[in-house]
Amino acid sequence: MALHKENVLIVDDDFDMLELIHRNLSALHFHTYRAISVKEAIEILKSSRIDLLITDLQMPGVNGIELIKYADEHYPEIPKLVITGFPSVDGAISAIQSGALDYLVKPFTQAELKLAIEKSLQEKRSDTFDQKKEKPITNAYAGMIGSSESFEEMIDVVERVKNNRATILIQGESGTGKELVARAIHYKGAYAGNPFIAVNCGAIPENLLESELFGYVKGAFTGAGDSRQGFFQAAAGGTIFLDEIGTAPANVQTSLLRVLQEKEVRRIGAQKSEKIELRIIAATNSDLYQMVEKGTFRQDLYYRLNVVNILTPPLRERKEDIFPLVHNFIKKYGVEYKKPFVTITDKAMELLTRYSWPGNIRELENVVQRAIILCDKNIDVQEIPKHIKLAEPSAENDVHKSLREVEREHIQRVLASVDNNKTRAAEILQIDRKTLRQKLK
Ligand SMILES: Nc1ncnc2c1ncn2[C@@H]1O[C@H](COP(=O)(O)OP(=O)(O)OP(=O)(O)O)[C@@H](O)[C@H]1O
Ligand SMILES: [Mg+2]
Repeated sequence: MALHKENVLIVDDDFDMLELIHRNLSALHFHTYRAISVKEAIEILKSSRIDLLITDLQMPGVNGIELIKYADEHYPEIPKLVITGFPSVDGAISAIQSGALDYLVKPFTQAELKLAIEKSLQEKRSDTFDQKKEKPITNAYAGMIGSSESFEEMIDVVERVKNNRATILIQGESGTGKELVARAIHYKGAYAGNPFIAVNCGAIPENLLESELFGYVKGAFTGAGDSRQGFFQAAAGGTIFLDEIGTAPANVQTSLLRVLQEKEVRRIGAQKSEKIELRIIAATNSDLYQMVEKGTFRQDLYYRLNVVNILTPPLRERKEDIFPLVHNFIKKYGVEYKKPFVTITDKAMELLTRYSWPGNIRELENVVQRAIILCDKNIDVQEIPKHIKLAEPSAENDVHKSLREVEREHIQRVLASVDNNKTRAAEILQIDRKTLRQKLK
């Protein structure tokens, strides 16, 4: 192994741990500095040239997160690695948000430590030497990830409405994040301390939906043995999220209209209505306006719901979001499946970017999750499902290509989809193997 000239600062209040890591690193030819507190660590950072910082999270007094934040502000160029015990993987995640590059869960082997260090130092090198390969500006907002213009526009609307109680209609294809947006509006807003109640109108049998939403008084109908409050009362002061609003039957549509007009709800069988203050967010993946035109959705209700309109665009219209989403899901499932160092190859990433994602972010998330389960160190082409490898590239990239290029790409795509089995590829291409071999040359 080559001699390392890098200086590593190790911070841990546990002396044995400090010693153990020091020995491991010395064996790997690193030079180490040791600190048993954040205070000591900061002294060393100020006085020495440190190439890598490794810190424990839980320490008496000032904890590791504070150190990461401090170092991130004053020494952004130093890669930071966090070690943590099992119960605090959450803490590790907030450390990453504070500027740590990666984390190691105790107990770890020397090989794991070595890999994590090499990865951190390498990421640092690529940061310094490859300035052009900028990381995309990624926004994380209440669990939502994205960097496209349309994503930012969506967040802008959320910011503008979060503190009032205007009724909101969220429209978008399945899996585009409608529920996530609804939750973001509630939890970022002024009434976050009050309940958020999600009701899937499509999942509740039609004949029960009304009583579930509005509640009932004793004896209102056969079986109403006791009075019961509905979802509206349960959400008082907060937000009720009416998902799949397009499936609400006519009677429920009428009652909803009354709530929106009068700002009061009446339990089934009750004489009087009760005033209610809450925010209504409705969502749908069907074209409500078309339903209005066909007469299956009340027009007056449509306009009452549609005070603020939020569109969650399909993923194929915001391809810039694919990259940050993939990395986010790799991080998320890397933790879940205890493979925190998994990366993705450029080829695999290209396949994911090219695909049109009819199931949107949910489909992308599932594909990445599956790939993490299947993969060893890297997500590569073989971990990507066949139908994605086979997908046609989007047409707009194609109009400047020569026939030769298109042919070459098509052959590569077919080969990828059959795991390089040339006989199968030749079959699909309807050419003989000899021709395929010639073309490959
Ligand atoms: N911007 C985002 N960043 C990260 N994850 C996201 C984002 N948008 C959606 N997701 C994830 O994608 C999945 C689908 O999101 P969500 O349930 O909000 O979609 P939906 O539009 O309500 O779908 P459906 O119409 O099928 O109910 C969820 O697992 C969610 O966490
Ligand atoms: Mg949903």
